[in-house]
Amino acid sequence: MSEWLKETGCKPVGSAYAGSNPAPPTSRRPRPAGPSSFPGGYAPRVLRTVRATRYVSPLREGGSVPALVEADDDGLYVVKLAGAAQGTKALVAELVVGELARALGAAEPDLGLLVPELVLVDLPIELSHAEPDPEIQDPLAASAGRNVGLDFLPRALPYTPASGSQPDADLAAAIVWLDAFVENVDRTPRNPNLLTWHDRLWLIDHGAGMYRQHAGLDPAKARGRFAAIRDHVLLPRASSIAAADERLAPHVDEALLRRIVGRVPTDWLDGDAAELMVTDLLARRAGDAASRTFVEEAERARVA
Ligand SMILES: Nc1ncnc2c1ncn2[C@@H]1O[C@H](COP(=O)(O)OP(=O)(O)OP(=O)(O)O)[C@@H](O)[C@H]1O
Ligand SMILES: [Mg+2]
Repeated sequence: MSEWLKETGCKPVGSAYAGSNPAPPTSRRPRPAGPSSFPGGYAPRVLRTVRATRYVSPLREGGSVPALVEADDDGLYVVKLAGAAQGTKALVAELVVGELARALGAAEPDLGLLVPELVLVDLPIELSHAEPDPEIQDPLAASAGRNVGLDFLPRALPYTPASGSQPDADLAAAIVWLDAFVENVDRTPRNPNLLTWHDRLWLIDHGAGMYRQHAGLDPAKARGRFAAIRDHVLLPRASSIAAADERLAPHVDEALLRRIVGRVPTDWLDGDAAELMVTDLLARRAGDAASRTFVEEAERARVA
């Protein structure tokens, strides 16, 4: 076992560990059976739930200090904690934006739009009792119950615009389009929230998407400006955002949005928040490329 594996507590791939697949993009874990009307085999009706069995370490690179945990399926997951300061709205964004990206990736497989599998993670309160560091124990205790997990990509490297493998122009444009659509402020050169794993780019950390939900979503404001898109880390590498829109927008219909939002645990959505989210995203996506503010704004920033 390598020193790195000992440090993280990971089990070596090929022995008992049946978690993250070292040969992307296929996953070894069986997916829940069920009909999917979406191209590419994306079946967004059921999110798997796993139960955390061991707290491995904090991921201190993240502002919210996500937890690396081992679960009852022997997989390792990065857990965005419901009890972290960012609150459950960040978890809602993580799920909705992450699942939307996964759906688009499945619908347009040639793009190579990749997001680690998202799961719900049940954290038993006992895990916090076993943790001596109060800085970790407190958020763990506050997160007993349901949380969001991402399949852990072992030895993934942070993406840097200046070196390492780079996305092609159409993939970069698709990621800019997605982030402009969901108003994700967190894909900047300072904090790209992209990982390189087996020479491919993986999108992580969508908790800052749909930031308007923090003030209460108002679909009347859905077509407002999103100036932060000019700071997107992939904008300088992107091909036409209008062309990305033509390719991706037709996949984002009401049925897909309802299925995705329907997977968010209802206790994270107050009142009519689920309906508002669908209505808001539909309003943002309404019309054609020429009439969508976010497309025009991202394209203008790209050619500036
Ligand atoms: N699926 C994953 N596989 C491997 N490493 C990951 C994964 N998800 C997150 N990480 C690592 O953990 C760090 C923190 O995760 P993430 O960015 O999701 O947390 P955050 O608290 O929301 O961060 P931020 O400071 O950007 O708000 C990432 O920068 C990355 O190094
Ligand atoms: Mg991050």
